[in-house]
Amino acid sequence: MGEQRSAQWYGGTDRNAYIHRAWMRRGLPAHAFDGRPHIAIADTSSDLTPCNAHLREVAESVKQGVYEAGGIPLTLPVVSLGETLVRPTAMLWRNMAAMAAEELLRANPVDGVVLLGGCDKTIPALLMAAASVDLPAVVVPGGPMLTGTFRGQPLGCGTDVWRLSEEVRGGTLSAEDFTRSESSMIRSRGHCNTMGTASTMAVVAEALGMVPPGLAGTPAADSRLLEAAHGAGGLAVGMVAADRRPATLLTRGSFHNAIVALAAVGGSTNAVVHLLAIAGRAGVPLTLDDVDRIGAGVPLLVDLQPAGRYLMEDLHRAGGLAAVLREVRDLLDPEALTVTGRPLVEHLDDARIWDGEVIRTRAAPLQEHAGIAVLYGDLAPTGAVIKPAAASAHLLRHRGRAVVFDSVEDMHARIDDPDLDVDADSVLVLRGCGPRGYPGMPEVANLPLPAKLLRAGVRDMVRVCDGRMSGTAYGTVVLHVTPEAAAGGPLAKVRSGDPVVLDVAARRLDVDLPPGELAAREPDPATVAAFARPARGWEALYVRTVQQADAGADLDFLVGSTGSAVSRESH
Ligand code: FES
Repeated sequence: MGEQRSAQWYGGTDRNAYIHRAWMRRGLPAHAFDGRPHIAIADTSSDLTPCNAHLREVAESVKQGVYEAGGIPLTLPVVSLGETLVRPTAMLWRNMAAMAAEELLRANPVDGVVLLGGCDKTIPALLMAAASVDLPAVVVPGGPMLTGTFRGQPLGCGTDVWRLSEEVRGGTLSAEDFTRSESSMIRSRGHCNTMGTASTMAVVAEALGMVPPGLAGTPAADSRLLEAAHGAGGLAVGMVAADRRPATLLTRGSFHNAIVALAAVGGSTNAVVHLLAIAGRAGVPLTLDDVDRIGAGVPLLVDLQPAGRYLMEDLHRAGGLAAVLREVRDLLDPEALTVTGRPLVEHLDDARIWDGEVIRTRAAPLQEHAGIAVLYGDLAPTGAVIKPAAASAHLLRHRGRAVVFDSVEDMHARIDDPDLDVDADSVLVLRGCGPRGYPGMPEVANLPLPAKLLRAGVRDMVRVCDGRMSGTAYGTVVLHVTPEAAAGGPLAKVRSGDPVVLDVAARRLDVDLPPGELAAREPDPATVAAFARPARGWEALYVRTVQQADAGADLDFLVGSTGSAVSRESH
């Protein structure tokens, strides 16, 4: 038996080694324990996570690759989170998924791991786990679904749900046609096919160096995904031999590259909170200001929904992430490594743009400055974010009267009230939706526009929220406001009628009140009453220990890495 970590379980002749080997000899031959690396396949497939259901088949290809390279593959089912089904919000369970994956990887006799994720929270949770356990790890993203069509028009999964539902509320689409479109929305296996959170996190994971270069964005139904999964299995075996761990890959330079990629593809705002959490696990000092500063100089090169026209299948056909990154190669950190052991930039030489409508050149970008902007001010002392690429240009500098909702339920009860005192210039404020207040920081910041304004032709308004929004959504939405209302943030004190001033160029979000007035106010008792106060279980632990969005919304005791060592023998 060699010096593999798994030898701590299987090596030797004592009773424990006997037990460890004997219980694994259900099909494994004796030479499985002769020092070959044991590779876990952390599998987030589940029938209740439709975007990841096909990962069982992907895992089989990974297994073959591991065997071929001389390793022993071992499937490890881990917590799976289906974005559309899990209540109250999958984000509440991201840290639980990360914690469970980390602990299971540490507790088991494995030397490396292939991480299979797809739906929004699964890749972030797996990356957080990998950073904390620091075993050689490679991510295989499950890939986006193929483009669906309805009445001859492509359907962008997620984004077109928002658009069509607003059309129903605005009276320009019948409820029957809306329901009819349902069977066309999800055309194949895979995750959402817009540049939503799942696609974004696959791209970001590749830019971080954790995905085999060229793999992110390969459609789930494309046979090249299985070929790449096979390759990733072999790669994991090689990574164990090279002792190539997340600690050597997740560096400040790799986070820099991830932020460049995030901006160039017009990725989801959710990536900000996930990147901050992953960086926290990896011990990399990353801040909101880094996201703004690095992203600010990056052009938007990808014309994908929700900000643009095309879908992930088009991006893959047009050259994929590598073609995008080749255009901004000079903005990338040249030394940040990937799972291959070579820098990311060295993998860009052969990349080409095959469709200049989908991927623009550096000389003719869709926007000059595509990064996610970070705002500060009276309403967001420690920061809030906005995605200008998905916002209406005429609203990026705006002043309007606040219309305040204390909770999602309050918003639903009143948003379509014909007597609601709101006009097209109003600023819709939704609070009680942060990590602690909801709890779990749901995707509600793109709150629906009042029906009476939709009928009048209004299609966007400034919205301010301490929650998140779906990566498939769009609009002039200021989100991730910190501190959240439930953590004592000034958002809890703003009142309907207060003049709110947004100035994205100046990076400000303020309330135009006499000095000291906002600070002197007490939050309305109804506002405070709406905050969550769970008594037991995960929710109680979460509310007690969750950090604010500007720190990644991780649990405070999960920040950092303890590595893969187990302090005690099996007992
Ligand atoms: Fe799974 Fe969108 S619902 S990625």
